[in-house]
Amino acid sequence: MRQLIILMVLIVTLFNCKPEEQPEWVLVPYPNTIETADGVFTFEKGISITTSDEELHALSEFYTKRFEDLGVVVETKSNRVIELQLKTSELENEEAYQVTISKKKITVTAAHPKGIFYGLTTLWQQLQLSQNKVVSCGTISDAPRFGYRGFMLDESRHFFGKEKVKQYIDLMASFKLNTFHWHLTDEPGWRIEIKALPKLATIGGKGYYKTPDGPVKYYTQEDIKEVVAYAAERFITIIPEIDMPGHATAANKAYPEFSGGGSEKYPDFTFDPGKEETYAYLTTILKEVATLFPSKYVHLGGDEVHFGNEAWHSNAGIKELMKREQLETLVDVEHYFIRRITDSLKTLGKDLAGWDEIVASGVDKQTSMIYWWRHDKTDKLEAALKAGYKTVLCPRRPLYFDFVQHDSLKNGRRWDGFNPLKDVYQYPDGTHQFSEGDLKLIAGIQSNLWTERLATEDWIDFMTFPRLVAMAESAWTNEAYKDWQRFDAYLPKLYAYLDSQGIYYFDETDLEHQKEPEL
Ligand code: ACM
Repeated sequence: MRQLIILMVLIVTLFNCKPEEQPEWVLVPYPNTIETADGVFTFEKGISITTSDEELHALSEFYTKRFEDLGVVVETKSNRVIELQLKTSELENEEAYQVTISKKKITVTAAHPKGIFYGLTTLWQQLQLSQNKVVSCGTISDAPRFGYRGFMLDESRHFFGKEKVKQYIDLMASFKLNTFHWHLTDEPGWRIEIKALPKLATIGGKGYYKTPDGPVKYYTQEDIKEVVAYAAERFITIIPEIDMPGHATAANKAYPEFSGGGSEKYPDFTFDPGKEETYAYLTTILKEVATLFPSKYVHLGGDEVHFGNEAWHSNAGIKELMKREQLETLVDVEHYFIRRITDSLKTLGKDLAGWDEIVASGVDKQTSMIYWWRHDKTDKLEAALKAGYKTVLCPRRPLYFDFVQHDSLKNGRRWDGFNPLKDVYQYPDGTHQFSEGDLKLIAGIQSNLWTERLATEDWIDFMTFPRLVAMAESAWTNEAYKDWQRFDAYLPKLYAYLDSQGIYYFDETDLEHQKEPEL
């Protein structure tokens, strides 16, 4: 009998057939397929990360550091290995990846370093969120639903600085977002140094939305290069926005000779489209912007010009322009301006991105990208898609994060309701029926954080999180694999991570202790 027991113990040990405890997956965005197999891979005893692809060395070092930050020992030689492999022919989508986990080896394959990055992010996130250094064996095969997964931060109304921006870029990358839309110019402040026109930053950069006499704040070109490089290391593209011909007030403080005036409520709101020199001036600005940002797109705004173009009615230069170019209305003038400045952008090697107002301007459909934001004007979305424009969906409801996320909250916008976490998670929610053709044109989704009422870091955190994480899953995970209950159940683990990052998020399960930050 004793011998029999010893023999059985030996068999179990040798063949390791005792079922090992397999930790649950805790992944956001949830991968599109996970097949779990018997056994586990442990990060408890040290691992090594290997690759024969030179292109992946930087990435391997980046993740070595991230795993070490979680207390994993990463050695040059270990009998537990993560191997990174580029396999160009197998996966078409550059962001797609496969992670195959066996007891001693994990293989991460992708067609491009982007995919390898997301494969490693999946492993890192599992360790980080589950607080467990053991992962189940199996295969994760994954690719994003949308190629564009974005977040916009307005730093004109209030300025937060490069350390905060880098923190957000880190968090975006941790949840597989890939585009940071940086709203750098508007009425209260111009936040980017332009060397040929220094007053834009030194005069235009003074003050904030609530405190026009506040100190001068802007990003130097060195700051911008640093943030762009930081984002690139995390496979995040930064699209800068230089808003025109409206929302130009801060620039007009610096160089009033190019102002097209405004209205009583919005003085000096526009650039002057009736003056030839304005186009040369703006091209000088865009030339420096184009050099600083490797992104294919530069966002030129184009929104809400009618808010403050009253002075255009009595502008002699505009009257002359209208006659010369046979423009009948001021909207035609606006469209002329957009077409002309887009031509300049083209000479700088960049394509146009703009808010949905620019759809009617007739800019190139092959290369321009439209951001649909006016949720109450679905005709604008339909027009963009019908015309064949590549389109990013960022409707105010539910993707503007300056709207409150809970009925109990006071500081924030509402418009026939507000933007709760679940609405963000469920977007696009089927209200809009997209045809196959439409779906080919929809680049992706983006949430926008306007900061008129948000003066502090706590405030932007409170409005952004956890909604940005919900949007990340909406942007990545196919509709069929989204599951609100699963996401909701992960929230305590997500909060623990956000706590570890010093983020002042909103938690709707804890209303009693959940304070809106000080205004
Ligand atoms: C916008 O919200 N004005 C694009």
